[in-house]
Amino acid sequence: MDKVEELERLEKEMKSDPSLPLTESNLVFGEGNPDTKVLFIGEAPGYHEDQQGRPFVGQAGKLLDKLIASVRWKREDIYITNIVKRRPPNNRDPFPEEIAAYAPYLKRQINIIDPKIIATLGRFSMNYFLPEAKISKDRGKAFILKEKIIFPLYHPAAALRSTSVANELAADFAKLPAVARDYDKIIYTAKKNSAGQIPEQEEESGQINLLP
Ligand code: URA
Repeated sequence: MDKVEELERLEKEMKSDPSLPLTESNLVFGEGNPDTKVLFIGEAPGYHEDQQGRPFVGQAGKLLDKLIASVRWKREDIYITNIVKRRPPNNRDPFPEEIAAYAPYLKRQINIIDPKIIATLGRFSMNYFLPEAKISKDRGKAFILKEKIIFPLYHPAAALRSTSVANELAADFAKLPAVARDYDKIIYTAKKNSAGQIPEQEEESGQINLLP
């Protein structure tokens, strides 16, 4: 079975899982190229995403599209999804139990796509991978987790509310092509630097400051 088939199967399974919360909204599974090196993960669908069944198609999505274009990438070459795959009422923050309910499916989706880099959009997605991280301190830095680079970014919706956040998001986003290009080097260097020095657990999520 190829990745497309595996993802279709997973989506079908999710649609018919009665234990998942928020079933009054539509499932927004995610979209893009399953062979991508870079997977973007947001928080949860909003109104427009719920209507269209696609991630990041509202105002925040338009900004995400611009950021993708600013580094000369194409939206169809990457993959975009959310940690919670149905819209919470009135766009409220997802509850921890909602994140937990969708987590097994997110894990399987990540395993199928198997990206080298996971760019998290916003603190909910970042804290799913890096529970201790703080968005204002840790955005734009590379964290190594199980041979993947986790690269926290501000949520584009936050950038729509603040010019300084917008500027910081654009600057962090601009680092992504170098992170993608230097993935092997980054992993190699992190392993070499931590060999025998850092206790196992820290090594797993060892943070290295990639670029100035
Ligand atoms: N915000 C998100 O976190 N995800 C979307 O898909 C849209 C807006």
